[in-house]
Amino acid sequence: MESIDSHRVPAHVAVIMDGNGRWAKARGLERSAGHVAGVDAVRRVVEAASKAGVRYLTLYAFSTENWNRPQDEVDALMHLIAYALERETPGLIENGVRLNMIGDVDRIPAASLESLRSSIRATAGGEGLQLNLALSYSARWEITRAANILASRVNGGEINAGDITDADVSACMTTAGMPDPDLLIRTGGDKRISNFLLWQLAYSELYFTSTLWPDFDAECFYRAIMEYQSRERRFGKTSEQIQSSSNT
Ligand code: FPP
Repeated sequence: MESIDSHRVPAHVAVIMDGNGRWAKARGLERSAGHVAGVDAVRRVVEAASKAGVRYLTLYAFSTENWNRPQDEVDALMHLIAYALERETPGLIENGVRLNMIGDVDRIPAASLESLRSSIRATAGGEGLQLNLALSYSARWEITRAANILASRVNGGEINAGDITDADVSACMTTAGMPDPDLLIRTGGDKRISNFLLWQLAYSELYFTSTLWPDFDAECFYRAIMEYQSRERRFGKTSEQIQSSSNT
């Protein structure tokens, strides 16, 4: 952590936690054992992000497409997430972590949703890191939902279709009010976005590592932040423009 520039810590880090199944398979274990080990990695990364001063951490815990996995894996994952949250909530409160969920709540089984809501309520006063769990989430679901919201405002005469701005669309996203991710980390070796935060990742720095999620630890997280800090973010401008504005 000492190698990180504390003045340029990303405000929002998003993570695609991939590789749990392969981690388990390599050990001759059931896939669900990989998810159990994945929860330990979640704890390590939440702690590391809090210490570094990251303000928002968004973890892709379960995608809309994950509903198509074998039913016993879906059940095990839902159960694990609810159980882990109940177990971790006191630690989250102690560390000022505020839990939030983004995704299609309507599809989450009632018991899991209840533990999620109770952790969200219990951590609501946290003034440190906001932990967004993306559950039953997909970016196309979210963008379609935003289109529906805006279309019904147009129908209701609240706004004119031609006046819809970039900011209006952002305000209809599940991340409304949060900064867009500065950095996206994907573990597990694949180099794709997999329907995650497609709107919000427009100018994020992308970091891919072959480390499997259950092996990801604080050092891996800080290495990703160091790589992020070595990049020049131009947001469509030239390098000269960026350098002259940072000199003034
Ligand atoms: C992807 O690995 C991982 C998931 C689909 C689940 C991630 C969920 C957790 C780590 C639990 C999170 C818990 C809390 C409390 C946030 P994969 O199964 O696709 O791995 P593979 O690519 O090797 O098959």
